[in-house]
Amino acid sequence: MSKKVWNSLLAVFVIAATVLSACAPAATEAPATEVPATVAPATEMPATEAPTEAPATEAPAAGQVEVFSWWVGGGEAAGLTAMTEVFKEKYPDIEFVNAAVAGGSGTNARAVLATRLQAGDPPDSWQAHAGQEIIGTYVAADQVAPLDDFYAESGFADVLPETLIPLISQDGHPYSVPVNIHRSNVMWYNPNVLSEAGVDAVPTTWDEFFAACDKIVAAGKICLALGPQWTAMHLFENVMIGALGAEKWNALWAPGADWSSADVKAALDAYAKALTYTNSDHAQLADWQPAAQLVTNGDAAFNIMGDWADGYFENAAPDGLGLTAHTDFDWAPVPGTDGIFVFLSDSFVLPANAKNPDATNAWLTVAASKEGQEAFNPVKGSICARTDCDQSLFNEYLQSAGTDWSTDTVVGSLTHGVVANDAWKAKIDTALGLFLSDNNVDGFQAALVEACASDGVCK
Ligand code: GAL
Repeated sequence: MSKKVWNSLLAVFVIAATVLSACAPAATEAPATEVPATVAPATEMPATEAPTEAPATEAPAAGQVEVFSWWVGGGEAAGLTAMTEVFKEKYPDIEFVNAAVAGGSGTNARAVLATRLQAGDPPDSWQAHAGQEIIGTYVAADQVAPLDDFYAESGFADVLPETLIPLISQDGHPYSVPVNIHRSNVMWYNPNVLSEAGVDAVPTTWDEFFAACDKIVAAGKICLALGPQWTAMHLFENVMIGALGAEKWNALWAPGADWSSADVKAALDAYAKALTYTNSDHAQLADWQPAAQLVTNGDAAFNIMGDWADGYFENAAPDGLGLTAHTDFDWAPVPGTDGIFVFLSDSFVLPANAKNPDATNAWLTVAASKEGQEAFNPVKGSICARTDCDQSLFNEYLQSAGTDWSTDTVVGSLTHGVVANDAWKAKIDTALGLFLSDNNVDGFQAALVEACASDGVCK
């Protein structure tokens, strides 16, 4: 990936972070005691073996660690289990309490989490997306503690892409431990449905996509499988990026953003058109898996979804569908996004005023470790956040994602927390929900302009 590309992503992020957190209370440094040194050392992070503040004779961490995520469904739960196994082996005295709440992209989980945070009852660690979800939301509300000691003792920063660090940091303090890199802009498709409908080439532009859809619909199939509302936002970001390109997408999240432009209108028109090719019962589907399965069982041609779908497709039953790449399913970049990597990163945090900091530190140590990430990511359908994972552990799709991550133009996901904080994203989501029922592009655009003006960088 060129420096220029990362620099522009970071510039957008840093400006957005500055603007969005301008009213937030200053982050307070966690007391040194919040990052205890009593945990059993993981062999791959030798720096944690001899922390300076704790006597080597102290007892290992014990008790429980409650870890909150939304990794419950096919493909997702298995990734968490794989990392939990590493945790259990390293920390047999700490009981792992899985507090996962079902619902892809965390829609339900994050509502439950917000209630718990408000009630002063945080889990010991929770899943949080790198970018504005952490910086403009949890850090801005003083709900998470900085991890300076953890980073200093573990040397974790040395094995992270240097450019990821600003996305989890405020004022130079890191606030989370990234476990992976996911890609949002993958178009999964069923090669048999395409060939039976006479679609000879996988579409690379939205016009080609719509032409292919006409053939697929004529052949009696659904063209674009969609699930509940968060997947419609996922589709939204992908059509927008495909229509606008990376630079104009980035500009929507930076001061001077113009959501009222003709370019945005044209992208919204493309989104409206894409929706006309989706299954009419999408709002009733339980989550992303049933929508993805419409493709693999031959009812639909395409599904635009993140690469967690790869874990679901390729993991053996019961964790996944046990499918074969290129035969049962295939993949291509979302139309208009070849050479662009729409990224998101799952990470874990330490709550402010943590009740159980030793156990949280133990969990973060595993989440940061090579062993933890190598266990988690090949099953989850993501690539490691660490740069030193053994590539031979990853399947063909994930190896290709690893290559694209290092060569493509990287931009941030809206749906998965990178570019907008929660307040702004919620406004966009409300506007999107209305649009899905009234189909009014002008009204949608006006609401997006207003969302930026009231909660985003246009204020
Ligand atoms: C994302 C999350 C992924 C995956 C996906 C679908 O927000 O980052 O790890 O869980 O939701 O649930």
